[in-house]
Amino acid sequence: MRKKVTIVGAGNVGATAAQRIFERGYADVVLVDVVEGLPQGKALDMLQSGPVVGSNAGILGTNSYEETANSDLVVITAGIARKPGMSRDDLLLTNMKIVKDVTMNVVRHSPECIIIVVSNPLDAMAQLALEISQFPRNRVLGMSGILDAARFRSFVAELVGVSVQDVSACILGGHGDSMVAVPRLSTVGGIPLTDLLSTSAIDQIVKRAVNGGAEIVSLLKTGSAYYAPSAAVAEMVDSIILDKKRILPCAVYLKGEYEIHGLFVSVPVKLGSTGLEEIQVLELNEQEHAALRKSAAAVKELVDIMRLKGGLHPMPS
Ligand code: LAC
Repeated sequence: MRKKVTIVGAGNVGATAAQRIFERGYADVVLVDVVEGLPQGKALDMLQSGPVVGSNAGILGTNSYEETANSDLVVITAGIARKPGMSRDDLLLTNMKIVKDVTMNVVRHSPECIIIVVSNPLDAMAQLALEISQFPRNRVLGMSGILDAARFRSFVAELVGVSVQDVSACILGGHGDSMVAVPRLSTVGGIPLTDLLSTSAIDQIVKRAVNGGAEIVSLLKTGSAYYAPSAAVAEMVDSIILDKKRILPCAVYLKGEYEIHGLFVSVPVKLGSTGLEEIQVLELNEQEHAALRKSAAAVKELVDIMRLKGGLHPMPS
């Protein structure tokens, strides 16, 4: 029997992720949205692409969670996207209500699923999903690091003139303005970036990768990026559903790893059929550690606001 993957949110990120996963053919896909007709129409259109793209998987659009029952994996993309000039953090209070409601519905119908959160601000929304679901941390992940690293990798590959496949990037921390690029541990064909490019060239690439989402928002004007985000989601889904055990940068709930306690930030992890299977702890220097602490502090600010506004319960003292 095929696995079952639900995507909540039939906007650009959700629908494109649904398309990518449907086209892989290994899982039946359910696309859920509150807007009547939208998930149904998009799903029907994708279903009719099956004979051409060679996918025998099922795809169903719906406005209710009944059809999502017993999903193996649920991707939450629901929420509003940024408009030009907004930071991801500006979405906090609106998306908090949406993600809380979605998570409760997801858990009710798929108590054993693995959740991947994509809604922004990513790390805070992942924490909300973890606390509301009361799932163990291996079953609640956030998609951010793959996307941030992909942006960085594509800029490096273009500048150096090599295949994107031969560029690896180490990007850690929250999916926000304080994310931490570690050029020392980013490589081109195994050679550290710091041996290959000048500091100013690296700084420029880091800056563009950090602002990668905002650059697209300012071009699109009416929405945010979705081709790269949905590709990153599909890479996580592949590794989990196919038990590939890839090591990928994902937002996970740290319990002391990297000296961060009780917060989501992106670090390299092993993803397999049980979700988060291992956290890879890199040896960082003091400067890199300090930058990561600062990024975690920015995530904590958002989590604290959610607690104040009643989105999350206060931590037991
Ligand atoms: C971005 C959004 C999806 O980085 O967070 O484009």
